[in-house]
Parts: sequence; structure tokens; C-alpha cells
Amino acid sequence: MECEMKHIISMRDISKNEISSLIDLAQKIEAQEINIDISGRLAALLFFEPSTRTAFSFDTAVKRLGGATIVMQGSSNSSVQKGESFADTVMTVSQYADIVVIRSATEGAARYASEVVDLPIVNAGDGANQHPTQTLLDLYSIKKTQGQIENVKIAIVGDLKYGRAVYSLVYGLMHFNAEFYFVSPEHLRIRDYLKGDLDARGIPYHELEEITDVLNVVDVMYVTRIQRERFAGQEEYEKVKDSYQISRSMIEAASIKPNFKLMHPLPRVNEITTDVDKLPCAYYFDQAKNGVYMRQAIISTLLGAAGGQEA
Ligand code: NCD
Repeated sequence: MECEMKHIISMRDISKNEISSLIDLAQKIEAQEINIDISGRLAALLFFEPSTRTAFSFDTAVKRLGGATIVMQGSSNSSVQKGESFADTVMTVSQYADIVVIRSATEGAARYASEVVDLPIVNAGDGANQHPTQTLLDLYSIKKTQGQIENVKIAIVGDLKYGRAVYSLVYGLMHFNAEFYFVSPEHLRIRDYLKGDLDARGIPYHELEEITDVLNVVDVMYVTRIQRERFAGQEEYEKVKDSYQISRSMIEAASIKPNFKLMHPLPRVNEITTDVDKLPCAYYFDQAKNGVYMRQAIISTLLGAAGGQEA
């Protein structure tokens, strides 16, 4: 099935069918069952906020498909420093590129770009709002490790107030009859608008403060970093920064399910100790690898090249 998607801006706009077709395509790309060639096409990667995985995995994805990239990492060397507006920057790169990937600290930046220019826009994270390509690779990771996404029991841990990957993920999982366990310090609970949307759809969720209460219950534990850059002040951040730490001994003491996986969008600060990395349930670096296949699927779909050729 060909997707009709023009942009990837928010998981709130992406249907279950669209998610499924992107996952199927990522699977085929990973299994080398399809050859997609976007040679001659150029992707502009505009990262106004720091990034390692998202920027590099988009760059890798485009190049693996045979395309080329122009990359802005941080605005310090660009004409933004001279006072150029966001709209003018996007308008300019749209004269060169066939698709634009944008990360910004401003909520709504990618959507605004999609209204300013007439080419596919991908939101690679806008403030505390959405990070849909992270979610699509997370859903792909859930499918790969659990066999299906349907009925997954998932704990989402950490900064549920400011973590954009959290918001995208919850909206994505709303299509799949997921059961949510939100684990956070009191001050970092999920925001009311998300609770309202869960309630309106009759989707069950639990709010807790202790990881150990859910470790034995869930299929996936999705851990997030406290988003220091979104806090109003250092003092507020200091109060919550070490709220959670998952260690090897904590996992070994629990009766985790055989299919249990620990996921994290990364970067990790100190919420998972490094001695966990070698445990079979540690999936976060595999997740980063899945990001390249998913971003290949996203780029080729938006460029209308996903038909490819059977390998
Ligand atoms: C996430 C982000 O940028 O929102 N990182 C990523 O893209 N893998 C999560 C985070 O920064 O904590």
C-alpha cells in the first residue's frame, strides 16, 4: 500500500494504516527485500537544537538510499545569527532540497514550515511537543521485540511532562489497545491535555511513582531523560534530576517477563546504569539502529519512491 502522506509533523495526524505501512516498509528495507533508489534527491537537515542520533540517522538513511544531504547542526554558523527569520531559512533551503527535516526548540516549528513551503517536511522534534519519527522507530522496535504492537503493556518512566518522545509515543500507541503505566515524580506527570485525550478514548492508564511496582507487569519499559533544557530554572531541575535510576541489581531482583525489553530514546544521562547494557533486556542501542531503517522508510515514502524494486 502506498502512503498518501505529505509530511510527518505529529503522531496525532498519522493513522494506524500509515503507521503499519511504514513499519512494513522498514521491515522490508532491513531484510533487504526491496531496493529503493533516491539518487539525485537532496534532503536538508536543519537542526536548530542539539542532536546525535536523529541527525546522524537521517543523514545515514538518506545516503543509504543513494540520496544526498545538506546539514545544519546548530544555528551558530548560519544566517540565523544575522537575524534571518525561521521562515526565510526554510524558504531558502527549500530552493535547494527535495525534503526538509527540522528540529527546533519551538513547538509548532515544523508545522509552520509545512505551511510556508511546498515540499515534504519532517518534524525531528519540536520543543516539548512531538517527535514522531522517534515514535515510528519505537513502534517498529516494539513490533520486532514483541511480535505485535497490539495489547502491549508499557511503562513510560521519567520526564512525562516535557519529554516530546513520550507524547508522540502515547498518541501512536492509542491505535493499538495499549495499557499505559506512567511512572514519574509528582512534578513531572503527564500533562492534562494528554490525560484528556486518553480519557476521551476510554484508554486505561495508571500513574505511579515507583518503578519496582511495574517491572514485573509490563512488556516494555520506556525510560526517558529528565529534559533539563525545558525547565524554567536550575533549582526546579535539581529537585528531580536523580529521581530514577535503573540498575542491573534492580532488574535481576525482579521477575521480569521473558519478552521484557528496556527501551530509551537516548541520550541517557544517569537513568540507566551502564551495567544494564549487557543484559538481554537492554534494547536501546538496537532501537537506535532501527531508527535508520525507519527513517529510510519515511524519506522514501515522502519522496514517492517507496515502491522501489523487489530485490
Ligand atoms: C530525544 C529527543 O530529542 O527528544 N532524543 C532523540 O531524538 N533520540 C530524547 C531526549 O532528548 O531525551
